[in-house]
Amino acid sequence: MSSIYIHWPFCNSKCTYCNFYSIVQENLDYNAWVERYSKVLSKMSLFFRSNSKNEVITSIFFGGGTPSLLPENCICKILDSCAKYFVIDDHVEITLEANPCTLNKHKLQSLKNTGINRLSIGIQSINDVNLKMLGRKHSSSEGLDMVTTASDIFDNVSADFIYNIPGQSINEWGDELKVISSLPLKHVSLYELIVEDGTKMSQDIQCNKIPMPDQDNIEFITRTYEVISNAGFTRYEISNFAKQNYMCRHSLSYWNYDEYYAAGPSSHARVMQDNKKYTIEQVCDTNKWLKWVDSGCNFNMVELTDIDILREKLIMGLRTIFGLDITEIPNQYNQTICDKINVLQKNNLAKLQKNRLILTDEGFIRLNKIVEYLA
Ligand SMILES: C[S@@+](CC[C@H](N)C(=O)[O-])C[C@H]1O[C@@H](n2cnc3c(N)ncnc32)[C@H](O)[C@@H]1O
Ligand code: SF4
Repeated sequence: MSSIYIHWPFCNSKCTYCNFYSIVQENLDYNAWVERYSKVLSKMSLFFRSNSKNEVITSIFFGGGTPSLLPENCICKILDSCAKYFVIDDHVEITLEANPCTLNKHKLQSLKNTGINRLSIGIQSINDVNLKMLGRKHSSSEGLDMVTTASDIFDNVSADFIYNIPGQSINEWGDELKVISSLPLKHVSLYELIVEDGTKMSQDIQCNKIPMPDQDNIEFITRTYEVISNAGFTRYEISNFAKQNYMCRHSLSYWNYDEYYAAGPSSHARVMQDNKKYTIEQVCDTNKWLKWVDSGCNFNMVELTDIDILREKLIMGLRTIFGLDITEIPNQYNQTICDKINVLQKNNLAKLQKNRLILTDEGFIRLNKIVEYLA
């Protein structure tokens, strides 16, 4: 399984908490941008073809930024480039991240006509005061209406929400979870707020304009799992919950440590060449990225060492209910890791199931600390 990630770095406005590489969109020459994506995909596909393992692309993900700002004909052209340079599975999952402000019924129908078959909508909150604090430009009812309209058009709709927002109580979040549970969604991503340095939210907290989020997050996490699993969603990753057969194939490919190709400012890829694994990062700055493409897009490939790979597999694997295959741990690290695994098991934080190290519910709550301990 391999996948392709397309990063569209533009948004209509900047949310107060967001540290993703995104900039506010001004007049853009869309055709020129689409041509650049095509060039990068063409060059990236050399790795795909050189591996010739009868591999196929099983997922394509338009992330951002706000890729729902892309005109539909541009999405089609990028998908055409994917099909031209890669071999695409007949049942490929094609996801687009969308901001409710960019959607309406007509737009949703046109998006469906491009071949997109999974929509991931950023709703973030259903409390208007919190939405304002987050710098969102849509209201709670606009967000909820968009989920319903999208679900009439797409079978596979996911929505993102954030919890432990400054001032939010457990009970307020519990009430939001009940509403979220009643929505016609197949998948939800429920993220604990991270106050990122350099964001407007972090400045507002420093100046005491808004309070710090609750430091004792365990109750938030426990309540989240409780309400959402009662609504029929399975937690398959620390922040991701799906109805049966609706796990995000694209995210799974990252967590399974499969190969992925990428195009767009700030995107990164993981590719194999001559049995070695490389990471390829593309420059963030949009002007530099355009110049880099025009000068032949020479990839800056960094080989991953055994320890890099182990650390990444550990970080990715332990986030999921599938865990980490411990037979993949190179011999020289076996003893150290095994001793630590024993400690985790004794403390009921992890269990070994058919060679896979899987965190318990208790372990999931302490994921970051466990990863730090092992990695
Ligand atoms: C890159 S955004 C794309 C979604 C789309 N641009 C939107 O906001 O409508 C992906 C998701 O990451 C989550 N996210 C971004 N920054 C976060 C933060 N600081 N803490 C927690 N979640 C965050 C949000 O839920 C967001 O929907
Ligand atoms: S959260 Fe989404 S819409 Fe808001 S700035 Fe970040 S990428 Fe853009």
